[in-house]
Amino acid sequence: MVVEDVSKSFGDFKVLNEVSLGIKKGEFFSLLGPSGCGKTTLLRIIAGFESPDYGLVTFDGVDVLPLPPNRRQANTVFQNYALFPHLTVSENVAFPLRIKRHPKAEIAPKVNEYLKLVQLEGHAHKKPNQLSGGQKQRVAIARALINEPRVLLLDEPLSALDAKLRQHMLIELDQIHDKIGITFIYVTHDQQEALSVSDRIAVMNQGNVLQVGTPHEIYESPATDFVARFIGEINLFEATVARVDKLDQPLLPAITPSDTTEYMAELDIPELGRIKVTTVDEVEPGQKVVFTIRPEKIVISKEKPVTKRADINFFQGTVDEPIYSGFQTKFYIKIAQAAPDKNTDQKVLIRVIKQHANYSDEGPDIVWKDEVYLSWSANDGYIVGVKE
Ligand SMILES: Nc1ncnc2c1ncn2[C@@H]1O[C@H](COP(=O)(O)OP(=O)(O)OP(=O)(O)O)[C@@H](O)[C@H]1O
Ligand SMILES: [Mg+2]
Repeated sequence: MVVEDVSKSFGDFKVLNEVSLGIKKGEFFSLLGPSGCGKTTLLRIIAGFESPDYGLVTFDGVDVLPLPPNRRQANTVFQNYALFPHLTVSENVAFPLRIKRHPKAEIAPKVNEYLKLVQLEGHAHKKPNQLSGGQKQRVAIARALINEPRVLLLDEPLSALDAKLRQHMLIELDQIHDKIGITFIYVTHDQQEALSVSDRIAVMNQGNVLQVGTPHEIYESPATDFVARFIGEINLFEATVARVDKLDQPLLPAITPSDTTEYMAELDIPELGRIKVTTVDEVEPGQKVVFTIRPEKIVISKEKPVTKRADINFFQGTVDEPIYSGFQTKFYIKIAQAAPDKNTDQKVLIRVIKQHANYSDEGPDIVWKDEVYLSWSANDGYIVGVKE
């Protein structure tokens, strides 16, 4: 499916700004972005409930914009289920086939098949008000799938469920997708949800698509500082490029495509001092950039790390706040050599996450006010934005 240059305004307010996406057949594709960024509007345009001001939507090369929703073979699952309260579970699921006047003898086995797919065989005769939230959502999914659409559109389908059930339903949704193999377009503002099930994700903000990529690409190589901030936790600093050297070979030759040129840049960051970072973007001394490092990429220890590697950045600091949460501890560290922030006159805190792999793992042993060493490889930091 292709969405090309789709724009939409409500009055003076531009909700979608020349959005273009190519979604592959059978893909689990997510639209991820904060509230109000235009996700639902884009989904409604694809479904046919809304028309764009300009732009194109094609399925298998065919322009679908002139078609009404029921002729597009794209069915939607909504957040609020939208079940018919007076119909039973099986009557709800049968509904799309009934209005298409399929023969009864054909409908019954099909309904059973789809109730089985969503694991509701035992609930066929219940009314929606006798079901849990997760079960209602499964009815809605079965009903959206029974007339075999080409695309299933899901608009925050799990947001009414509690966190545990949401996790569970997400796995089920993924399994259903694997079984039936049609395209899923999944709208969410929850980055964890999007990262865990999507083949690819489009990150949106204010009507623009900022990046399209696999969960790994979006997380590890965010295209903009908005994407970096929106996905996962991040330390983010404004920096000035101090020097740039071309590397004879990439720092990690095994995972870097052989035709890419990698540079080792040194950045001056007022809150940190000088740091090293590898980059494939061409940057020049004097340029202002945004530098990021994920908290889990930073190694924290009470002992001074011993290494001769030139790519390691070292800092000394004090634990300002440790937050223990069982499987990990998050530390806020005050960097010793840092200049205070010019606005707050406070030294900047850098976030570090330490996973607890073993009982003996250092982590709970590092406590408030401890002097610690932080280190990370130049390869783990990332330049996300060139300012000028
Ligand atoms: N029919 C409408 N008339 C006027 N403004 C609208 C209409 N539909 C949506 N909007 C506005 O367009 C913007 C995008 O709305 P949309 O529902 O697409 O956002 P969203 O990304 O789905 O947000 P959420 O995560 O909160 O569901 C919002 O500012 C909203 O107020
Ligand atoms: Mg929405």
